Amino acid sequence: MKRAGILGIGHYVPERVVTNHDLEEILDTSHDWIVSRTGIKERRIAADDMNTSDLASRAALAAIEHAGIGVDEIDLIIVATSTPDYHVFPSVACLVQEKIKARTVGAMDVSAACSGFVYAMILAKQFIETGANQRVLVVGAEKMSKKLNWKDRNTAVLFGDGAGAVVMGPVSSDRGILSFDMGADGSGANQLVIQDYLEMNGREVYKFAVRQMPQTIMNVMDKAGFSIEDIDFLIPHQANTRIIDNAREKLGIPADKISITVDKYGNTSGATIPLSLAEEVNLGKIKDGDLLVLVGFGGGLTWGSIALRWGT
Ligand code: COA
Repeated sequence: MKRAGILGIGHYVPERVVTNHDLEEILDTSHDWIVSRTGIKERRIAADDMNTSDLASRAALAAIEHAGIGVDEIDLIIVATSTPDYHVFPSVACLVQEKIKARTVGAMDVSAACSGFVYAMILAKQFIETGANQRVLVVGAEKMSKKLNWKDRNTAVLFGDGAGAVVMGPVSSDRGILSFDMGADGSGANQLVIQDYLEMNGREVYKFAVRQMPQTIMNVMDKAGFSIEDIDFLIPHQANTRIIDNAREKLGIPADKISITVDKYGNTSGATIPLSLAEEVNLGKIKDGDLLVLVGFGGGLTWGSIALRWGT
C-alpha cells in the first residue's frame, strides 16, 4: 500500500515584528515576565489589509513550489484555522483556491484550534490512502492578532500571525505517516474560547497540555511500533516553552531533537506545526528517513499527533 506523506512544505510570516518591549508600551507587562513564563521574545503581526487567506496562500504557493508540482495538480484543499476571513463562510480554503488559482477542487476548513493542522493531515491521509486524491494541499494559517483583546495582558502577549503548508500525496511504503492519535474532551470547551475575542483559562489549559501532550506522543509511537528513543525530531505545537520542556523531561527526549520557534513567532495556533517543520527543513535539520512526531493540543479541548517517516 502507498502511504500518505509530505511531498513539499512552505511557510509565510508577516514582515512586521512586534517585540515584548513593544508590548510594554501598551500593556502592563514586561519582557522578562513574558520570556520567563512562555519563552516568547517576539511575534509577527499581519498588516490590516492581509487576512488569514493571504497568509495561507503565500505558504501554499511555497509548498507547491517545494513539491515541484503545478498548482493545477492540487486535487483537494484543506485549511486548518480558527481565524477565518469571514465569521462562518466562505471557508478560507475556498479563498485560497481562488487566490492561488487552483482548479475547482473540493475545499474545506477544519476547526480544531491548535490541533487543527494535525487533524487536517490525518484527514488528508484518508483521502490519499483510499486513492481518492493524489495531491492534497493542507494549510495551517492564522491571523490571531484580529481575535486578541489588546487590553488583556493574560492573552495578548501569547499569540502571533503566520502560516505553513504542505502538499501531501502517496509516497513509498517505507515513508510517510506511520500512525496517528487524535482525541478531544469537550468538557473543557469553555477553557479556551474565541467568541468575539480570545479568552483563556491559562492555568487549566496549561495543566491539560502538560498532561495530554506526552500522552499522545506515547500513544502515537506505540501505535507505530516504535519507542520514544526512536524519535529523530519532535515538532510540537508552539504554545509555551515550559509546556515543551515539561514533555521533554517526562519523555527524556534530548533538547536538540525538538523544534522551538515560539520564541520568534509566539503561538500561531493552527500554523505552529507546519511553520516549525518548514523552518527545520529549510535549516537542513531533517533528513530523508528521519522519524518525526508532530503533536498538537489546544482549544476544544483537542489533541492529535502523527508519527511520520520523512521522505517520499
Ligand atoms: N505580564 C505580566 N504579568 C502577567 C501577564 C503579563 N503578560 N499575564 C498574567 N500576568 C500575571 C497574572 O495576572 C498573575 O498575577 P496575579 O497573581 O497578581 O493575579 C501572575 O502574572 C501569574 O499568573 P499565572 O496565571 O499564575 O501565570 P502562569 O505562570 O500560569 O503563566 C500562562 C500564565 C498563560 C503563560 C500559562 O498559564 C500558560 O502558558 N498557559 C497555557 C496557555 C497556552 O499555552 N494556551 C494555548 C494552548 S494551545
